[in-house]
Amino acid sequence: MTAPLTASQLAARFTEAFGTEPDGVWMAPGRVNLIGEHTDYNEGFVLPFAIDKTARIAIRTRPDSALRLLSTYGDQGMTMADTNALDKSTARGWTKYPLGVIWALQQRGITVPGMDLLLDSDVPLGAGLSSSHAIECAVISALNELTGAGLEAEEMVLATQRAENDFVGAPTGIMDQSASLRGAKDHAVFLDCRDQTVKLVPFEAHPAGLVMLVIDTKVSHSHADGGYASRRASCELGADVLGVKALRDVGVEDLQEASGLLDEETFRRVRHVVTENDRVLQTVELLASEGPRAIGPLLDASHVSMRDDFEISCRELDLAVETSRSNGAIGARMTGGGFGGAAIALTPLEAEQQVRAAVVKAFADAGYTAPDIFTVTPAEGAMRLA
Ligand code: GLA
Repeated sequence: MTAPLTASQLAARFTEAFGTEPDGVWMAPGRVNLIGEHTDYNEGFVLPFAIDKTARIAIRTRPDSALRLLSTYGDQGMTMADTNALDKSTARGWTKYPLGVIWALQQRGITVPGMDLLLDSDVPLGAGLSSSHAIECAVISALNELTGAGLEAEEMVLATQRAENDFVGAPTGIMDQSASLRGAKDHAVFLDCRDQTVKLVPFEAHPAGLVMLVIDTKVSHSHADGGYASRRASCELGADVLGVKALRDVGVEDLQEASGLLDEETFRRVRHVVTENDRVLQTVELLASEGPRAIGPLLDASHVSMRDDFEISCRELDLAVETSRSNGAIGARMTGGGFGGAAIALTPLEAEQQVRAAVVKAFADAGYTAPDIFTVTPAEGAMRLA
């Protein structure tokens, strides 16, 4: 991926492409989930943070209903569409995300004008860092302002979820867009997915002598594929059989009784969600009382639960996690929806080079595609840049 364009560079590229200046430039970040996986659609707890990798868009609204969508991604040319005739069955590639947001706003009764749009992004695609939500959140932030819709962050979260669920066709929850819209520098976003209450939790690795490594396994995944939906269905079945509104309402102390009521596989899916919610709460407490060095075992336990109970890991993710841990990381786990994407490894500064080298070697020895390894820090959520 080439270096991200600054707001003024993007505006200049927009002017070159469309022959007129943009109304403005907006950005929204990708996210890493520190802990709390597949808990969001169970009305539970998550603890993601916005990262210092962003989607940026320049937009100019038009007097007609034409949509001209262009990205700096190289191979794809300009996509033409019409705000009065959005068609999810023909939307392709990254354009599904802006088109989905426009559609979702229309479903709320908001009139969206035509527009010219230029996208640039350095959120790696398909790495489990929410490149799609970064685009959606940049677009909705821009359109919220340009249409005067005046939506609150919570409403923008629901609108982008609608875009994902009903336009893109991925049955995802609200974690990613909440992190992208509501993130803050040096903080993780502790979100209660039942009522969208957010508490910003200080999370700074560097002052604690740590670095957060992201290991992109290059195994691509899509939440519009069956794995994500089937996990979600298991959770809904579990809640149904246990007679609760959502798995959020099941506590660790209820698990023994639940094991007698559920089939073996559904029980393991439920156990992941229930214990993961508990791990999120413990992580928040430990960050406040002892700081980031204390949370390693919770990250490890989260990975084991996803690998064995929820079964959403893959060999590459497991290798990244195991190799990081055996070379000095104090905690590691896959992050995001699973079936590929990235792992995170909370690593002491002095072990960073060793972890990087060991993971690269382990992947080469196993015959896997070389991973991409980089650091992330909690960064600002979506905003207007120019
Ligand atoms: C994807 C979805 C989120 C969440 C995670 C798993 O990132 O978009 O809503 O469910 O998977 O925690």
